[in-house]
Amino acid sequence: MILMFLGAPGAGKGTQAVKLSEILGIPHISTGDIFRANIKNGTELGKLASSYINNGKLVPDEVTCAIVEDRLSQPDCEKGAILDGFPRTIAQAEVLDKFLESIGKKIDVVVNIVVDDQEVVKRISQRRVCPNCKATYHMGHRPPSNGTNCDACGTEVILRDDDTPEVIEKRLKEYHMSTEPLVDYYKAKGNLIESEGVEGIEKSMNNTIRALIMR
Ligand code: AP5
Ligand code: MG
Repeated sequence: MILMFLGAPGAGKGTQAVKLSEILGIPHISTGDIFRANIKNGTELGKLASSYINNGKLVPDEVTCAIVEDRLSQPDCEKGAILDGFPRTIAQAEVLDKFLESIGKKIDVVVNIVVDDQEVVKRISQRRVCPNCKATYHMGHRPPSNGTNCDACGTEVILRDDDTPEVIEKRLKEYHMSTEPLVDYYKAKGNLIESEGVEGIEKSMNNTIRALIMR
């Protein structure tokens, strides 16, 4: 099964994708995580990606599509995958459709997590991430148990470089301009479900599971 999470920055895509990946036993593929790992390791891709990410802009489609095609071709994606943050433009969606067709697959379902911009700004400013194992926290309702270090690996949690108020504003603009049109794109294909994402992590996750089962 290929499942995709769509939604604004901070909508909860990563939080829900990690959980569903555990439940379904298929890999979670986050283009944002792939770029951040490359930035951390100082690769050429990381250097290129950081110039876009830290300005709230999208990394060019050709670069992003090639990475995802490569990742989806790995043996652990045989039974499916959960895409988080890809595609993010109509052009990426078209490339992905063609690629999946070429390997005899398709996107089975797109979950659009619905959250308004105000909630996004509030949430992202409270988010902290583990730079080592990528665990995500929220300093209000899901803080690390000792307040500063990752529960899973003990590394000090940090604010993402693109989680400053100025960059969040740019990311939201980019989302509305380039990514939101995908809602209609997938609606027209008949495989989009909506999941209310404002009610707290557990309830929002349940909204998604309910929508997946009832579709
Ligand atoms: P990416 O890493 O994908 O960032 P994003 O889309 O901006 O989304 P976020 O990761 O910020 O939010 P999320 O929806 O995963 O929310 P989370 O679960 O963490 O991309 C980063 C950058 O990389 C892009 O800006 C772009 O430059 C580049 N890029 C990536 N993909 C690309 C592509 N395809 N093409 C081109 N460029 C690309 O939750 C947020 C916080 O809220 C957490 O603290 C969490 O604990 C909390 N939370 C989650 N759910 C709830 C809830 N229901 N109630 C309360 N709190 C909640
Ligand atoms: Mg994320």
